[in-house]
Amino acid sequence: MERTYCMIKPDGVQKGLIGEIISRIERKGYKIVGMKLLQLTTAMAEEHYREHEGKSFYPGLLQYITSGPVVALVVEGKNAVKGMRALMGATNPLEAAPGTIRGDFGLDMGRNVIHGADSIESAKREIAIYFKEEELLQYDKSLDEWIYE
Ligand SMILES: Nc1ncnc2c1ncn2[C@@H]1O[C@H](COP(=O)(O)OP(=O)(O)O)[C@@H](O)[C@H]1O
Ligand SMILES: [Mg+2]
Repeated sequence: MERTYCMIKPDGVQKGLIGEIISRIERKGYKIVGMKLLQLTTAMAEEHYREHEGKSFYPGLLQYITSGPVVALVVEGKNAVKGMRALMGATNPLEAAPGTIRGDFGLDMGRNVIHGADSIESAKREIAIYFKEEELLQYDKSLDEWIYE
């Protein structure tokens, strides 16, 4: 099973979408193995988004992502990285398909509601920013036999 890092961004929290988003993740069949509410420090945000340093949107991105509480999630399941990116939709909510989280709940690139790691390597790196190993739980869900063949 694969693990990915996802994060409900400050706009998602402010718009009261925590429950809706977590519900979509659960209904898809994924297992949440780590979860916390926190507000990013600038240092954490710089670490998270270091690949974007120097880009025109970077200062605004740091401002946005540190502006309020976020929900940090470690999501586990078959093909979780790719699957969560599909559930989230395209980076630009205007291009994200209806039915995706960004497609349903966003309008602006800099207010796109949710983050999801783009590769297994990114997921590992990002999970380590937000969680200690012992904060990630291993448990069985009785429904798993109805989710996986
Ligand atoms: N042109 C842009 N203008 C404003 N914000 C942007 C822009 N490009 C990216 N961002 C913000 O930076 C985040 C990280 O960008 P990127 O890694 O390219 O997208 P994704 O979050 O889909 O992996 C985006 O989710 C978005 O919030
Ligand atoms: Mg990205």
